[in-house]
Amino acid sequence: MARRPMTGWLSVMTALADVSDHVFKDADALVVYASTHGHTAKIADRIAQSMRAQGLEVDLRDVASAVDVQPERYDVVVVGASLHKERHQQAIADWVGTRREALEQRPSLFFSVSLSAAEDSDEARAAAQHCIDRFCAETGWTPGRTEPIAGCLQYREYDVFTRQLMRLLMRKMGHPTDASQDYDYTDWDGVDQLGRDVAVLAAATVTA
Ligand SMILES: Cc1cc2nc3c(=O)[nH]c(=O)nc-3n(C[C@H](O)[C@H](O)[C@H](O)COP(=O)(O)O)c2cc1C
Repeated sequence: MARRPMTGWLSVMTALADVSDHVFKDADALVVYASTHGHTAKIADRIAQSMRAQGLEVDLRDVASAVDVQPERYDVVVVGASLHKERHQQAIADWVGTRREALEQRPSLFFSVSLSAAEDSDEARAAAQHCIDRFCAETGWTPGRTEPIAGCLQYREYDVFTRQLMRLLMRKMGHPTDASQDYDYTDWDGVDQLGRDVAVLAAATVTA
């Protein structure tokens, strides 16, 4: 596209219109996630909404309904999972592992939801990153970008045993133990921004 000299607001607005016409049109994105208690599902949905707001066609799938989904069809792929006992869900590891080559060939993002990511300490950050690195090593996939995302303490979603276990753990870690409510640590503005970042990645693919 020939560049126009930038003279005044009209030129800027015209240039922006060019970008939105050419950049996001026809970009297809896939968002696949695994979620044990539903919070990663909410984050995946929010990322998908943010990408749609940028003009992308987004196919949002729980991994259980993504058996027949092939990354080859998409310009960009987002994969999300949450940490439970320091592991991401096996179902998403299997999905990624069997599609590794196709994932490597397009822009991709892996986001990992955890309570470690909600902690403001080097130790917790290292723990979250260690689990992400292990997921990548075990699946053999190197995502274009990895993103730890602070999750939610969902007392109201847990069964009796898990609720008690989490209360004990949280007491030790100095977190809330009142199980009558949930504690959402997710930076939702950051999640929206992540969706916009992925849209830019997709744009680079379709205009390349
Ligand atoms: C039984 C259990 C184990 C968990 N283990 C970890 C863990 O090892 N590391 C961590 O950072 N967060 C851990 N979490 C926190 C979850 O990753 C967090 O609550 C996340 O938001 C759950 O997302 P989901 O609802 O999509 O499964 C654990 C939560 C539960 C209930």
